[in-house]
Amino acid sequence: MADNVVWHHHAVERTVRAEKKGQQPAVIWFTGLSASGKSTLAGALEQILTEQGYHTYLLDGDNVRHGLCRDLGFSDADRKENIRRVGEVANLMADAGLIVMAAFISPFRADRQVVRDIVPDGQFIEVFVDASLEVCRQRDPKGLYARAERGEIKQFTGIDSPYEAPEQPELHVDAGRLSVAESINQLLEYLHSRGLLK
Ligand code: PPS
Repeated sequence: MADNVVWHHHAVERTVRAEKKGQQPAVIWFTGLSASGKSTLAGALEQILTEQGYHTYLLDGDNVRHGLCRDLGFSDADRKENIRRVGEVANLMADAGLIVMAAFISPFRADRQVVRDIVPDGQFIEVFVDASLEVCRQRDPKGLYARAERGEIKQFTGIDSPYEAPEQPELHVDAGRLSVAESINQLLEYLHSRGLLK
């Protein structure tokens, strides 16, 4: 960053915006292999929270790559930049008082740590959506694993690009075994226990 740019403190602070909304801001970060269930869980959670009156936003890898990150591919460097940008956006949205759901493979621990470091203490919830590569390959809802195995897609996570599982996520969801409803219950219980939901 250039040294001629100075941070400007606004009159209305983060906590005031959140108080106005009557909710605790948070970034709920879903990480896991393609087809592990990240988007499904994040979407279902958003629906429930919205019905309960919370103000939310869902950032999803496939969608963000149609706009904000349309210039990025799937090299390690592009994934790093993808997660950095999305982390900044998620933090801005939490700054506006929202409960943000972010569903990204985010395969690298260091990149997820960058986001954790951007978000204020206690507001970053890492959710490991844990379904084995075998399960994800069998599900293959978009046919991407089959294409990657035929060599039609390069640098596909789990095939020829690595996935580094979280070591100490706030929440570990056994998404290969649990139903969506069971996983959502686990999520809601955790968010209540953290005082993030009323
Ligand atoms: S990352 O690694 O966090 O930057 O990826 P993300 O932004 O979440 O995008 C993942 C979705 O992109 C599709 N896709 C690929 N995924 C992984 N590797 C490769 N090479 C690839 N090419 C396309 C795929 O639909 C991912 O969506 P999900 O929902 O994870 O299946």
